[in-house]
Amino acid sequence: MKILLIGSGGRESALAWKMAQSPECEKLFVLPGNPGMERYAEIINEKPSDFGAVSQVINSKKIDLVVVGPEQPLVDGIVDYLEADKTLTKKPLVVGPCKQAAQLEGSKDFAKQFMLRHNIPTAQYKTFTSQTYNEAVVFMKTLTAPYVLKADGLAAGKGVIIEPDFNKAVESLKEMLGGKFGDASRSVVIEEFLSGIELSVFVLCDGCGRYVLLPEAKDYKRIFDNDKGPNTGGMGSVSPVPFADAVFMDKVVKRIVEPTVKGLVDDGIKYVGFIFFGLINVGGNPYVIEYNVRMGDPETESVMPRIKSDLVPVLKAAAEGNLGGMSVEFDERTVATVVKVSGGYPDSYKKGFVITGFDSVDNSIIFHAGTSRNSDNQIVTSGGRVVAITAYGNNIPNALEIANSDAAKITFEGAFNRKDIGLDLMRL
Ligand code: AMP
Ligand code: GLY
Repeated sequence: MKILLIGSGGRESALAWKMAQSPECEKLFVLPGNPGMERYAEIINEKPSDFGAVSQVINSKKIDLVVVGPEQPLVDGIVDYLEADKTLTKKPLVVGPCKQAAQLEGSKDFAKQFMLRHNIPTAQYKTFTSQTYNEAVVFMKTLTAPYVLKADGLAAGKGVIIEPDFNKAVESLKEMLGGKFGDASRSVVIEEFLSGIELSVFVLCDGCGRYVLLPEAKDYKRIFDNDKGPNTGGMGSVSPVPFADAVFMDKVVKRIVEPTVKGLVDDGIKYVGFIFFGLINVGGNPYVIEYNVRMGDPETESVMPRIKSDLVPVLKAAAEGNLGGMSVEFDERTVATVVKVSGGYPDSYKKGFVITGFDSVDNSIIFHAGTSRNSDNQIVTSGGRVVAITAYGNNIPNALEIANSDAAKITFEGAFNRKDIGLDLMRL
């Protein structure tokens, strides 16, 4: 099969690495990809937002299967576009939800209503606009601090404010409704604060009520060790998550995964693709913090290496609506991923620094995230999260030690990475 993967980050690097190993993958293309993916794929220099260009690539490269990595093109309707596009000489199979289904991530209010309708455990909430500002303040008074305010729409991972002080929370609410996050925050979801440890659970759905469960992971969002400093896109991940034992995962499947997949079918929403359940463990019981309509980043960099089975036949079956009887075998080993970021990230940072040391890494897998080539064809930094370094081990400290020591070999001006990914889980 000829496969086209859309996206360019660490998540897509890990998906490309996994798919390229499949005997069923005749040729892999990535659009727009990054220099690290040149090892597994042909890079196509187009924008994922240019659906017309994506279609042309599907025709010219005779693509059989399209896998969409990031949420933005999904929320913008790339799957609907390809389905309706009359210029396609042959319809490819597509892994990714349609625009309506992508509302699970594209609108927090849509996701909350869905969970309420299908009895899926989540924080209590209400949604407000500037017209209902007074009611919002009254509702906030019924909650206890800290206050959780969420922009309804996509806000590049920045649309959630957790504020312990009531007056400051009211100020933040005003700013959000006033357009702090543009149209994304014209509606704001206010919800109960849940206290616990988070984890990420992933499934792949076939649009007909069947799914396969993938390995779970935990990501680390704060910039500094011991979860200090501002939130980032993700500084590392581990899989498996020790507290997600058989008893806990049984609750996740019965209370959350199955009602979600069934709920989508009952609501007449055809969901083909990955669902990422952002969960929180509250006293042994899982609650949904958010849905994402894609894999997590940097979770995918730990999840893909833990999948023993060939992923391509599973992706194909999902896109064909035919996952019946399929499952995915997990690697028993532990995987840790450490993300090397640009100095200054998540605030402003400089780009274009030459990256060295790739060749001295021998015990880890390197997944490029924010990299590009300069005019001298050198690999340089081009984003906040630059490279993910992933290692297998017998347990978290062992996998982390290998990933950390390989991460130290990759250098560029201002490079930084956390050293404690996963270690909190050893103290539980
Ligand atoms: P979200 O974009 O919905 O995933 O929210 C971003 C982060 O805010 C989550 O990963 C959680 O750490 C935190 N968060 C969101 N909602 C809640 C909640 N109801 N209670 C506690 N923490 C939350
Ligand atoms: N790691 C969290 C996310 O991908 O949204």
